[in-house]
Amino acid sequence: MRILDITVALSSLALFAAAAPAPFGKNQLPDGMPSPSPDQVKLIEQAAHGTLPNGPPPPVISSEGIVNLKLIAFNELFEVAFFNELITNITNKVEGYDIDEEEDHVKVLDALKAILAQEELHALRANDALEHFKVNKIQPCEYTFPISDFKSAIALAATFTDVVLGTLQDVVERFALGRDVDLAREIASVIGQEGEQQGWFRASQGKIPSELPFLTTSDLNFAFTAIQDFVVPGSCPNINEIPLRTFEGLKILSTPGPQDQNITVQFNDPDHEADHSLWLTYINQQNLPIVEPLRFVSRNGKEVQAEALFPFEENEMNGLTIAAVTKSSGPFTDASSVAQWTLAGPGLIIVN
Ligand SMILES: *[C@@H]1O[C@H](CO)[C@@H](O)[C@H](O)[C@H]1NC(C)=O
Ligand SMILES: *[C@@H]1O[C@H](CO)[C@@H](O)[C@H](O)[C@H]1NC(C)=O
Repeated sequence: MRILDITVALSSLALFAAAAPAPFGKNQLPDGMPSPSPDQVKLIEQAAHGTLPNGPPPPVISSEGIVNLKLIAFNELFEVAFFNELITNITNKVEGYDIDEEEDHVKVLDALKAILAQEELHALRANDALEHFKVNKIQPCEYTFPISDFKSAIALAATFTDVVLGTLQDVVERFALGRDVDLAREIASVIGQEGEQQGWFRASQGKIPSELPFLTTSDLNFAFTAIQDFVVPGSCPNINEIPLRTFEGLKILSTPGPQDQNITVQFNDPDHEADHSLWLTYINQQNLPIVEPLRFVSRNGKEVQAEALFPFEENEMNGLTIAAVTKSSGPFTDASSVAQWTLAGPGLIIVN
């Protein structure tokens, strides 16, 4: 009898363990994401201070429009994981995340909890639209963030939000080209929303809230590559269904300030492209891309270090600059043509 009891107890323990949530790191998404129940959606909406749009998605969509939705879902799921982990760190007063004043602690958490829920709704809206068009939803990956304190977390949030603000411009243009009229309007509402977040991230860093008169533009492929920096390799169930390019990584080794200077960059060059001429091309604001010759410095295996001018003064290069090592000197008319010729990138620079 006793032995049997123990066996029963053990097997129910095993059952319990199997039903318990996956260990931290495996599924980092809260609130039932990416597939919350209707009740969970209600709670997310309350936390987000608003609802999912209640009109249906349009009856048809262009093929480029589908790519837009996939990239948006891929990005928003990453943001949900990031803000959830940041809130957890602050709530638990993890070392580096202890905000001195109790009043600030509450204010910061209030702001971040709304942002988290709002990003959850953005992700749901994009994935729901994919489902509506009979396309597989984008599944979350495992994520890892190269930061361990509050200040760096906000600086990172400001950096990826800047990339998003540039990329959503490309999304709207692609929707416009595909005549996806209703979706273009909805994205315009999200761009403003992300801009409000960005004003707060910037003010939290002691910067002026509004970054530039015309925000720096980007390209879907740059965002797709940049997000993968935070993804555990091999952990994305269906990243292969996103038909975008992943470029070689590019690191800006010397963070430039608001003056002309030479900067050193490092990038992967497995095919020895650096044996030929390469350029460092900069995208800033709504201006034509700036092309500077890249001077080879050294090679270590497939890693190349090189140097180029960062021509701040002539171009007033405040805010986000997207740098890319290009195989052509252009001249480029826009961010998409830079992406077409990109070997490595995006390198992300934010001045002021
Ligand atoms: C949360 O804290 C851990 C431990 O310091 C850190 O590794 C992780 O990157 C932090 N995450 C965020 C989003 O700040
Ligand atoms: C950048 O380096 C080049 C080549 O070494 C040099 O001619 C130029 O003066 C440098 N520019 C600045 C702003 O330091």
